[in-house]
Formats: sequence, C-alpha cells, structure tokens
Amino acid sequence: MNLLAPPPSTVQVQPGGSGDALTRGKEPAALSIGDLHAWYGDSHVLHGVELTVNAGETICLLGRNGAGRTTTLRAIMGLTSARTGSIRVFGKEVIGLPQHHVAQLGVGYCPEERGIFASLTTQENFLLPPSLPTRFPGFSIDEIHALFPNLKTRANSPGTRLSGGEQQMLAVARIFRTGARLLLLDEISEGLAPVIVQALGRAIKELKKRGFSVLLAEQNFRFSANLADRFYVMERGKIVLEIERSELSNKQAELKELLGV
Ligand SMILES: Nc1ncnc2c1ncn2[C@@H]1O[C@H](COP(=O)(O)OP(=O)(O)OP(=O)(O)O)[C@@H](O)[C@H]1O
Ligand SMILES: [Mg+2]
Repeated sequence: MNLLAPPPSTVQVQPGGSGDALTRGKEPAALSIGDLHAWYGDSHVLHGVELTVNAGETICLLGRNGAGRTTTLRAIMGLTSARTGSIRVFGKEVIGLPQHHVAQLGVGYCPEERGIFASLTTQENFLLPPSLPTRFPGFSIDEIHALFPNLKTRANSPGTRLSGGEQQMLAVARIFRTGARLLLLDEISEGLAPVIVQALGRAIKELKKRGFSVLLAEQNFRFSANLADRFYVMERGKIVLEIERSELSNKQAELKELLGV
C-alpha cells in the first residue's frame, strides 16, 4: 500500500467549479494563469504570462514601467481587447467569460485610477460595488472603519474633498466587503504618504489572516517586501523571475538589476 497516496475520499470537485477543477484533497489555486497573451487593438502586450496565486497567498507582481503588470490584471478581468491562453479563477476557466462573470466568481479589482465618484460621499462610494454571490465573509463596515479610521471621519465628505490617500483607502476598502476573495490591487501604494502606506500594509496583512488571496501589482518593492509570500518580476509582457520570500536576500542583486533600483 502506498502510504503517500491520498485516500479516495479526498478527491473532490470544488464548489463553484465547472467540473474541471478536480483536485486531490487540495483547494484549487485562487488564480492560475498559463500562456496568457493579451492585446490592446493590434498591440500585442502580454507574451505568455505564467503565474499562480494559491488560496490564501499574497503575491506581488513587480516590474519596471510598461512591463505589463496592469495589463495582466486587466486581462484577468476581461478588460483587454483580446486574450488567449488560460486563466483559472478558483479552478474555473474564465477565458471567454465576460467581465461581470469573472467578478461574480469572487474577484475584486482595484484599478490604478481608483474610480472614486467625485459627486458621491465616501459612504455612497463605499456602498457602490454590489455584493457578490459568494459565501465568503467580507469585512463589515465597522471592521473597515477600524482599519481605516479616516474613512469613518470622512463618511459624509464628497469624493472631491478626499485627499489622494483617502481616495486610495476608499478604493481598496470598498472591495473588502463585497464577498470577493481574490483581490487584484494595482499600485495601491504609489505616491502616498508613509502613514497611508503603512495603513494599507496593515490592511493587506489582515486580508491574509482572513484567508483572502491577493495579487499586488507594484513598482514599490519596499512596500511589498514585508507583505508578499512570493514575487514575480515581469519584463516586456513576460514573467522573467519568480522568487520565494525566503530567497529574497540571496536574489537581491538579480532583483535590483531587473527593477533598476
Ligand atoms: N490602452 C492601451 N493601448 C495600447 N497600449 C497600451 C495600453 N495600455 C498600456 N499599453 C502598453 O502596454 C504595455 C504594458 O503596459 P502596462 O500598463 O500593463 O504596464 P505596467 O507594468 O502596469 O506599467 P506602469 O503601471 O508603470 O505603466 C506598455 O508598453 C504600454 O505602453
Ligand atoms: Mg500599471
């Protein structure tokens, strides 16, 4: 008898899958991307991206300007003009699915441009993203206010009155309550004061504690260094390096050269 083989009872079809997520006693990855190509019109931007975010992991996607980080997140959501290859979200293939179906699988996307409505208050902006049909426990409003007290103080302020940091906290926090359990966060620390960056870092750690899976697209390696379990570096639309957190000190030189820092 092979003691290493899992017993038959651990073979299971994951809920929410289309039947193609047959795994052996293991949750499917939150995100599994294979040979992903993506285009904006005629412009071929992604050239065979391969990356995985296992359930509960925080993963950082690094790269220089124009490397293709934002396009990778947009391609996952179905926001590029074309995409080929494979993108599995919690075991379900989403290439070919429209954007709202991808979101309904439990994916929350915070784009670089934040999407805060100037004419709505913080609270109204906050309640804008609809709850998703997942059973994943998101954060309550009180829990979000505990993480970002400014959002409570500014609850009735219109979007126009919020500082850049407050807008970023709002853009990130409003997807915490929706039931999304895979979060795609684009450059959330960019250009913000250290105190705001620290608050965002604490929030990412809290997400991990609660079992969220997170993909951070970042140029700011220092922000992600203490948060991510694993790092991918992109260059010209491809992943060129994958580093485990434990390998960081050994691979500093390689990383510096690729990121130009
Ligand atoms: N809407 C678009 N149409 C055509 N090309 C685009 C579009 N958006 C981005 N690109 C091109 O795709 C490539 C990848 O851009 P992307 O925005 O994904 O990079 P990035 O890694 O997020 O970098 P950064 O955030 O620093 O701009 C770049 O060459 C960029 O010029
Ligand atoms: Mg970008």
